[in-house]
Amino acid sequence: MNEKAVKIEDSRDVVRARHEGREMARKLGFGPADQARLATAISELTRNVIQYAGKGVCVITDASEMGIAKIRVRVEDHGPGIADIDQAIEPGFSTGNGLGAGLPGTRRLVHEFRIDSKPGHTVVSIAIVRRRA
Ligand SMILES: Nc1ncnc2c1ncn2[C@@H]1O[C@H](COP(=O)(O)OP(=O)(O)O)[C@@H](O)[C@H]1O
Ligand SMILES: [Mg+2]
Repeated sequence: MNEKAVKIEDSRDVVRARHEGREMARKLGFGPADQARLATAISELTRNVIQYAGKGVCVITDASEMGIAKIRVRVEDHGPGIADIDQAIEPGFSTGNGLGAGLPGTRRLVHEFRIDSKPGHTVVSIAIVRRRA
């Protein structure tokens, strides 16, 4: 199973993680639109890590099965956690003077989206899938 782990500490790491996601998507036969969706999602989630937790990790995994190409991305940190997940995914909600569009936007861009968070540990997991010819 192909897996890439990118440490997330500053904006260069966001660029790296985006790039790794886009490359894996391209290699697995996802089109340019899906590549861009995944890169945008990774960008939003890893920027949140820097902004709200300081640092973390982004793990990009080829989770393909027979007949389907699938990329799973886990973005994880040990920051304060998300107090109210329902509120955090509401468009416009931000505790950081942001647009509050990152999480709800990401959710719309991907096929699977899940947040697990408690104080000291947040994991946002996303996936994109496509049927293989
Ligand atoms: N990794 C994280 N750790 C703690 N809180 C987070 C994290 N990611 C998101 N949040 C919370 O969820 C809110 C919404 O995030 P988001 O939709 O990306 O909007 P924005 O970043 O513009 O505030 C943030 O304002 C923050 O309160
Ligand atoms: Mg954000």
